[in-house]
Amino acid sequence: MCGIVAYVGPKDAAPILLEGLARLEYRGYDSAGIAIVSKTLKMRKVKGRVADLAAAVPARFKGGLGIGHTRWATHGVPSDVNAHPHLDGAERIAVVHNGIIENADELRAKLTVDGVTFASETDSEVLAHLIARTVKDTDSLEEAVRTALKRVVGTYGVAVVDAERPGEVVVARNGSPIVLGIGEKEMFAASDVAALVRYTRQVVHLEDGELATIKADGFHTFTMDARETAKEPLTVDWDAGHYDTGGYEHYLLKEISEQPETVARTLRGRLDDRFHIAHLGGLNLTPHETRAFRRVKIIGCGSAYYSGQIGAQLVEELARIPADAEPASEFRYRNPVVEHDTLYVAISQSGETYDTLAAVQELKRKGGRVLGIVNTVGSAIARECDGGMYLHAGPEVSVASTKAFTSTAVAFALLALHFGRVHDLSPADGRRISEGLRRLPGQIEEILAKDAEIAALARKYADHTGMMFVGRVRGYPVAREGAQKLKEISYVHAEAYPASELKHGPLALIGPDMPTVAIVPDDELLDKNLTTLGEIRARGGRVLMIGHRAADPKLADDCVVVPKNETELDPILLTIPLQLLAYHAAVALERDVDKPRNLAKSVTVE
Ligand code: AGP
Repeated sequence: MCGIVAYVGPKDAAPILLEGLARLEYRGYDSAGIAIVSKTLKMRKVKGRVADLAAAVPARFKGGLGIGHTRWATHGVPSDVNAHPHLDGAERIAVVHNGIIENADELRAKLTVDGVTFASETDSEVLAHLIARTVKDTDSLEEAVRTALKRVVGTYGVAVVDAERPGEVVVARNGSPIVLGIGEKEMFAASDVAALVRYTRQVVHLEDGELATIKADGFHTFTMDARETAKEPLTVDWDAGHYDTGGYEHYLLKEISEQPETVARTLRGRLDDRFHIAHLGGLNLTPHETRAFRRVKIIGCGSAYYSGQIGAQLVEELARIPADAEPASEFRYRNPVVEHDTLYVAISQSGETYDTLAAVQELKRKGGRVLGIVNTVGSAIARECDGGMYLHAGPEVSVASTKAFTSTAVAFALLALHFGRVHDLSPADGRRISEGLRRLPGQIEEILAKDAEIAALARKYADHTGMMFVGRVRGYPVAREGAQKLKEISYVHAEAYPASELKHGPLALIGPDMPTVAIVPDDELLDKNLTTLGEIRARGGRVLMIGHRAADPKLADDCVVVPKNETELDPILLTIPLQLLAYHAAVALERDVDKPRNLAKSVTVE
């Protein structure tokens, strides 16, 4: 999704902006541009990659103030003209914008009547013209930006420069993130800390409805009605090294391979061997409040939702509290009944997914108690929730989520243990789960060691136009995530079904051309799952089984055996071979593994 970078300071802005934009490439984009202010306003923008932009920026682009943008087309096709920044007619104001201006058509019509000529098809360009009209009558860029934004309906993260004020950038946030970076006699702003960590780790997150002016010697923040706000800088513990591929061919493989360490980090300091409980201070819940919840409702989008399904299962099994997961994108629109004895849990790797954020805000409005399970420290969802857990998985750069998925499932195991031990879970079972959790990193290593075996299977199955993924109860969210990974990055059509539902419809699809990946854990449902494999084979379907024991060749063509953990925790391990399968299938099909078509890393618009 779109990215913003801004700089003001003693150095040349252009290389800093280009470097920052390169760090935002992972979010997905189709064009890029920068504007620099020194004596005049200079701009370059191109359809294509940041490298194309860098090649197009002349050496004479000097100046210590600038803004940059990567665009992901919403209004108007990807093109040089539609790329940001956008300028007013006099080329005095330059604007970069993330989000959607819903009343852009109406504003455009009014401005056109007033004699404004538009250069692009974008909604964002109206902002440049609106600001330019006010800035002439006032001596303040801040005021001009506030006045313009008051006329806008929609979401935005914006950065604005004025050719006549070469020492300041004004930024604003409403539904699309903006974070300030504090340097030594220089200031930065961006839509994502990824663009900043090479220069500073001291950051300030803007809230919705907040604006800031950054100058080389500092910043100040204020509201839409010009009230000053007080902000505490936060130190981010991610550095530039986290955003390198670290010698791997793709970020995705790096992030899959990091999971022994990321899972260990999610667990670190949270397991108590004396009482076999989990220490989760960030939940901000008293023991009395913890015992009072009668239901747990989990919300998230995409893979976050599937990890929530694993979480719901864990909460029900370990804490015996009814729990279910629902896509946040649906939940927010169906006027949900918000109950005071229900604990709501929002999941997000980025902490910026708009649908999840909007669902949290709706819950809060109705008095719901919301915890966040979030990877990005200080992100909007983390700030909005009443408490929660950080994953500590480090930045996830590849569009397809892997390490955040497993860490979220682990976080839910901790949450379920915490709730279980204040309800019915025995110390013995608490100990069993704690020990199982501690075994996970080593067992993930064992699965990663099967990389070559799984790569060979991926090559064998990758040329099918479609694949079925099936699993029962605990295995079903695993199947859904496996199908999601495959379709996202390899573009192979993948369907996920509960194995129990196969004969109620999808069995009609099974045949030699539609192989099935079957999740077959060694649990109480093993026999039922093996019967399903028999049904698939009887229809000529090929089967790749992911399980805990070698498959009977009569029931499966191929098999990946993963180490067994406690039954409740097995879904976490069963997911790993599916990540590798999708990765190697995408490589075999020569896909853009880290930046699959049409997708963005964090979906900060509706
Ligand atoms: C996962 O592979 C996807 N890229 C996507 O489904 C993602 O999980 C979803 O958009 C939610 O993102 P979040 O965790 O940052 O909120």
